[in-house]
Amino acid sequence: MTREKVLDSIKANVENQNLVKHMLATEAIMRALAKRLGGDGEGWGLTGLLHDIDMELTEGDMKTHSKLGADLARELGASEAMAHAILCHNEAHGIPLETKLDKALFCADPLTGLITAAALVRPDKKLAGVEAKSVRKRFKEKSFAAGANREQIALCSELGLELDEFIELGLKAMQGIAEELGL
Ligand SMILES: [Fe+2]
Repeated sequence: MTREKVLDSIKANVENQNLVKHMLATEAIMRALAKRLGGDGEGWGLTGLLHDIDMELTEGDMKTHSKLGADLARELGASEAMAHAILCHNEAHGIPLETKLDKALFCADPLTGLITAAALVRPDKKLAGVEAKSVRKRFKEKSFAAGANREQIALCSELGLELDEFIELGLKAMQGIAEELGL
């Protein structure tokens, strides 16, 4: 399984460029988490990159979303551990998070939305000027980027990460690919 192969498959299955950017952002955070937690950077990164590949194919149906995604990931050569993380990132299936990889994907996914929103409310709409402390402040404002599930983000504690550290790590990771994200 190569990143190139994964990107080709994303191109074939995902039209919405904001969704592609979300997957790229998740990849970046997953790579940073792997580095911090001693995970396999490439495997964790590609899990993040792939995790919503079925969103358009399933038309956002939460009963099938991530089941198809896990199957597509397996077809592309993902390990069972990667497929499991993709499968259980959709809470609707009620599959418990078991591994560090499962938990990392689960909490990285909504963090991308919170950080993206924090960039978009700035006059320049750029990630470069976003500070971790302002994201932390936004975290507490429930109405801000309400779709970014705070409880889910806070599960970083199960990985041994304080929320502040997780936000900083995620922000730096996304800033590192700001150009690709158009932010
Ligand atoms: Fe996602």
